[in-house]
Formats: sequence, structure tokens, C-alpha cells
Amino acid sequence: MGLPREEIQALLERYPTPPVVATVGSHSALDVADGAVTEGLVSLVLAEAGRESTYSRYFLTVRGAGGDRVRGCVDEVWVLPHFSDLASPASQERLRTRGALLVPNRALSSYVPLGTIENDLLVPIVGSRSMLRIEERTERENYYTLLESAGIPTPPVVSGPDAIDGLSIVKLPHASRRLERGFFTAANPTEYHTKVKHLVDRGIVARDDLARARIERYVVGPVFNFNFFFSPLVPRAEGLELLGVDERRESNLDGLVRLPAAQQLELPEADRIPVYTVVGHGTLTVRESILDEVFRLGERFVEASRSRYPPGILGPFCLQTCIDAAGHPVVFDVAARIGGGTNVHLGLGHPYGNALWRGPMSTGRRIALEIRRASSEGRLAEVIT
Ligand SMILES: Nc1ncnc2c1ncn2[C@@H]1O[C@H](COP(=O)(O)OP(=O)(O)O)[C@@H](O)[C@H]1O
Ligand SMILES: [Mg+2]
Repeated sequence: MGLPREEIQALLERYPTPPVVATVGSHSALDVADGAVTEGLVSLVLAEAGRESTYSRYFLTVRGAGGDRVRGCVDEVWVLPHFSDLASPASQERLRTRGALLVPNRALSSYVPLGTIENDLLVPIVGSRSMLRIEERTERENYYTLLESAGIPTPPVVSGPDAIDGLSIVKLPHASRRLERGFFTAANPTEYHTKVKHLVDRGIVARDDLARARIERYVVGPVFNFNFFFSPLVPRAEGLELLGVDERRESNLDGLVRLPAAQQLELPEADRIPVYTVVGHGTLTVRESILDEVFRLGERFVEASRSRYPPGILGPFCLQTCIDAAGHPVVFDVAARIGGGTNVHLGLGHPYGNALWRGPMSTGRRIALEIRRASSEGRLAEVIT
């Protein structure tokens, strides 16, 4: 199933050297664009009409008299009526003619149907095309099955509402804004059923989604998103890198926890429902003694991905964890592509990435460096799918 990798690799024969770095204009596009131009490549952002100005105006590259960039990092912007139009035959042809390598982000896999990416999108993807689908919780084979096969700790699954016995989180899409979350927590079946009624009445949760919802134990602990990179171009022992760590700010959830308990209780009922909408990120480091385990988890993920989704993970990926009371990271979500929080390292890098690369190294820059190296060594085919 899916496009044969050889067919995609064959496209590279007609690509210019070095190729152009393209990405969908949302999510982490600025990191990717900044990284590309820092490494001397050309950046291209595929934007949607109405949401293009960040790229087409505010971060657009301005060149000086000598042709060098004096401002911005987005060299080219193609404004499409809808993101999904990037997969139209005409756009695909244009991308190939331009020599574009597509860096996948969550905007790509949210706005372009996964089936289209897997079966119709004849444009090289820098990363693991077949792994984008593992993020879909309702798929039979998803990141949970991969993590389990890798022996990576995940929050214990709760078999159903009536088996809830301790604080748990129910994961399902928002009733109407399908790309957002309708998550809620419950500590016992009674709380579950009371909250469901309340959330259904408020249009946050749709009853039809509940049967397919994932219920898992809530890990009480801080969130650390580990931004890794895997390179197939170097000896296996050097393949895995930890480039950075981020955390999220989630709309009113973060607002609520900034209020003293007494004030929280004074809020109207509706304002007390935490909403898990990501609105920003911060940067973190982890207690050093935990790093050993973090690398072990990263290595296990790489190995499991190689055996289940050959050629396995290529380039950036993110393990989203809560660190439990005993100091162990528990993985509750995975991004088999650039994570959503890497903009915190844009232009600056992160202590881990910089320590490794002896200078500022963001995820976007690392992707561009991989493309540049692969291209100069004639090995581009190894980093794309
Ligand atoms: N098992 C869990 N324990 C504690 N918090 C969790 C758990 N699962 C998710 N969360 C919280 O919910 C947020 C979103 O969860 P996640 O599984 O990453 O959803 P999505 O796939 O929509 O990104 C996380 O950033 C974290 O704050
Ligand atoms: Mg997540």
C-alpha cells in the first residue's frame, strides 16, 4: 500500500542541487524556514489564503542590493485557496519543477487527507510518510501499538467509563471544532457520566465520539516534550540526537492554574472546564539524571519504527511525556515528524542541541543540515520517503 518509495526517490533525479525546503504554512513553518536559510538553502512556505501574512509579509525575505538576505526567512510563499490544494496535480507538478522537498508537519497531516499523502502525493517528503498515520488514535495500528511493541511506558489504558478507578483522561475530538480536543478528566464512573452530560449539553463533546474515545490514567506530573532527531546518514551509535525540550501552554487550563483555588471556585461553571487548546510553548531542560532514560526511550522508538515501518523514523520526532512522581517519563503522545513546539528554539537552538552541535541548532536548522549533507554526499534518497 502507498506509493513505492523507489518511485519517489526517482523524482530526485530531476531535482536541482541543492533542493528547495518546502513546508505547510502553520505549526512549525517558521522554524523550518529559518533553519533552511541559515543553512544556505531556499525556503518555500505553502500558505492558505487568509492566513498567509505571517509568511508573505512579516517574515518574508527581503534581500539587499548584493542579493543577500537582510530581513526575514521565508524566501517564497505560494498562497493556495486551501491547504489541501497543495496535493492537486497542478501543485504537485509545480512543487516538483521547483525542486521542493516537503517537510511534513501536523498542519500537512491535518489538512491534507492521509490517504492522499500516502497514495497520491508524488513529492518527496523529508521524513517518514507512512508513520504520519500513527497519530490517529482511532486507527487500529497507531502510536500506542508502536510504543507497546517498543516497550515504552504509556499511561495505563482504562477499558471503559465504568472501569474508571482513579484520575483518568478521556481523549476525543471536540464536538464541532474537529481539529481541536474535547478532552476531559474523571476520577470515577459517576463523575464521568455527570461530566459527559454537562459537556454534551455545552456542545463540547458529541455522544457518538465517546465509544471511540481513549481513556487512560492521568499522569500527575509536568509535561516534557522531547524533540529528537534521527539521522540515517551517520553510524547508528550517533544516529539519535536530542535537540530540545518544550512544554505547552494550553488556553484556559494554564489560565486556571494561575488562579488561587478560592478564585477558581468563584468562576462560573463554564469557565471552570479546562480546554486543552494549545496556544503557545516554552522551553525546558530536564533533570540530568533523567536524560539516560530519555535516550533509552528514544532509541527504543527508533528501533521499533525501523522494524514496523521501514525505513523507520527519519529526521525529527517528538515524544510527549509526563514525568511521574518517581521521576520516570511516561509517553502519552508521539509526533512522527517535527513537533509542534520547536518554534521555541527557532534561531536560538536549545541547550542540548547547541551543546551537541557546538552552536545554535534548532530542529528546523537540523533538518536543513541533513538535507544539505545528504545532497552533497549524493544520499538524498536515504532521507526522503
Ligand atoms: N495521560 C495523561 N496524563 C496527564 N496529562 C495528559 C495525559 N494525556 C494528555 N495529557 C494532557 O493533554 C494534552 C494533550 O494531550 P495529547 O495526547 O498530546 O493530545 P493531542 O494528540 O491532541 O496532542 C497534553 O499536552 C497534556 O497536557
Ligand atoms: Mg499531543
